[in-house]
Amino acid sequence: MTHNPNIIWHPTAITKSDRQSLNGHKSCALWFTGLSGSGKSVLANAVDEKLYRMGIQSYVLDGDNIRHGLNKDLGFQTEDRIENIRRIGEVAKLFVDSGQMILTAFISPFREDRDMVRALFPEEEFFEIYVKCPLHVCEQRDPKGLYKKARNGEIKHFTGIDSPYEAPRSPDFIIESDQISISAGADLIITELQSKGII
Ligand code: ADX
Repeated sequence: MTHNPNIIWHPTAITKSDRQSLNGHKSCALWFTGLSGSGKSVLANAVDEKLYRMGIQSYVLDGDNIRHGLNKDLGFQTEDRIENIRRIGEVAKLFVDSGQMILTAFISPFREDRDMVRALFPEEEFFEIYVKCPLHVCEQRDPKGLYKKARNGEIKHFTGIDSPYEAPRSPDFIIESDQISISAGADLIITELQSKGII
């Protein structure tokens, strides 16, 4: 949809940088992408918990949870997934503007949609984290029994089974969740954030 010229941006009294100063750290989006069962949510929550204990303002937006509320009108057809990611990109941007670290855990299977989200942010405020895990391992884990249902044909358009997952070509970080523990993966991400001077 094109922008309506009768809607004019209202500048805010308090800026993003004011809020970052108040919090004592910068803000950015950590965009976790990967197959269902790859460990995105668990990893994002582990990072969130570590940030919380460090006194850093952070929050997790998780696909399964957001689809209970804000995005409960969306399914898993391509156009719905595009809209899912578009909305979350915009919400993530609001969180960054509010001076908080935002961690998103969505399959976000399409490269073009992830690139569209990346384009909403300046370079230093968006990091794509590929939670890499072979399909057969995700399928063995099958924490919600959904792969089994997809294989039986009870669920259509399931990512990795009858709907594609386009792996990132140049993610900012890769965490191989079948190779290292969740806690070690979370520590790697925290260390990166520190070395970039974000936290
Ligand atoms: S996304 O593709 O639009 O980014 P999202 O992360 O919001 O997906 O939701 C994925 C979660 O929904 C999965 O972890 C799984 O629990 C559940 N789910 C239900 N149906 C499907 C499906 N057809 N494909 C993938 N995930 C599904």
